[in-house]
Amino acid sequence: MDLGDLGDGTRVVHGGHPEPEAGTPLLPGPVFAAPYHLGESGPSGDFYGRAGNPTWRALESAIGELDDGHCVLLPSGMAATSTVLRSVLGAGDKLVLPSDGYYASRQFVTDELTELALDVREIPTPGPWADDVFDGARLVLLETPSNPGGDVCDIAALAERAHAAGALVAVDNTTATPLGQRPLELGADIVIASDTKALSGHSDILLGHVSVRDEELANRLVRARSLSGAIPGPFETWLAHRSMGTLDLRLSRQAENAAALVEALAGHPAVSGLRWPGRAGDPSHEVARRQMRRFGGVFCFELADADAVATFIARSRLVVAATSFGGLHSTADRRAQWGDPVPEGFLRFSAGCETPEDLVDDVLRALT
Ligand SMILES: Cc1ncc(COP(=O)(O)O)c(C=O)c1O
Repeated sequence: MDLGDLGDGTRVVHGGHPEPEAGTPLLPGPVFAAPYHLGESGPSGDFYGRAGNPTWRALESAIGELDDGHCVLLPSGMAATSTVLRSVLGAGDKLVLPSDGYYASRQFVTDELTELALDVREIPTPGPWADDVFDGARLVLLETPSNPGGDVCDIAALAERAHAAGALVAVDNTTATPLGQRPLELGADIVIASDTKALSGHSDILLGHVSVRDEELANRLVRARSLSGAIPGPFETWLAHRSMGTLDLRLSRQAENAAALVEALAGHPAVSGLRWPGRAGDPSHEVARRQMRRFGGVFCFELADADAVATFIARSRLVVAATSFGGLHSTADRRAQWGDPVPEGFLRFSAGCETPEDLVDDVLRALT
């Protein structure tokens, strides 16, 4: 079914589902095959589970339709990032990375790609982006909004400059999801995402994907997946597909909760450094408003120190400490404990799908 002209809710509910046929399920169950029957004349379709799986293809079709590209599913967000970096980069290449993005992407480059002797430039997401920053670059990785700080960069403007310098542009779109932002439509070449977060949204699976417009690059990524053996589990894939049907609803509630909490926390004496791209006046807001389709539920703020955060979590009934985001439950993560270069009391807050008044009451009470 062509869903291109339909709304977000319709697209996530129907994406990747087969045409209706009497007696068949709306969303077929997961296919767990290792080998498939070859028949007498050899392989003519799926032949081995590491190379192909119909449950992957159903979700890839749904996500690819949203991203507007060819989607290649991978077993986690880091599998998506590492597969792109390994597939695109060669020895001595220049790579531009966000200095304030997800720390494991930087760590992968420093610890696991040493044999490539890359020329790595780390730039903060809001810039400054010097005139010559992309000169000689092979790949530019952007992350916007960045995790954990919620800063944004102008994908279209940077992609134009990077392309003029001959570089490919990849965008980690995890915090936005394909409903929040479409990097390929803004000029990026590659979308990377951890679908562990809002896309699956129930805090119970790990998954990731890469979407690209270039078919040859998509085939290269599929080959890399197949040969590295880093493949998604069919059951996780099926759960993600089932969960994605409520993405529009969940994101709407999460953004509503984030907006209510941000409003309640603005000016609170215990809170400083409140940031959410959806908030008018936030340094990210103008660019975010132009390039994002909607804002998510992730925002950040600071309390006095680590003890103040521990007290806040202990007093709250609804907010749990957890190091992920985008799920049904509201969570808060003190990022300094993982080594992010942020103050000790810095919290990345992921607004869940609870009732807004309950959440605001609970958070304000926990801060008192
Ligand atoms: C922005 C971003 N990219 C990538 C990842 C890695 O995803 P995963 O944990 O699914 O490997 C994360 C995880 O937190 C993330 O926040």
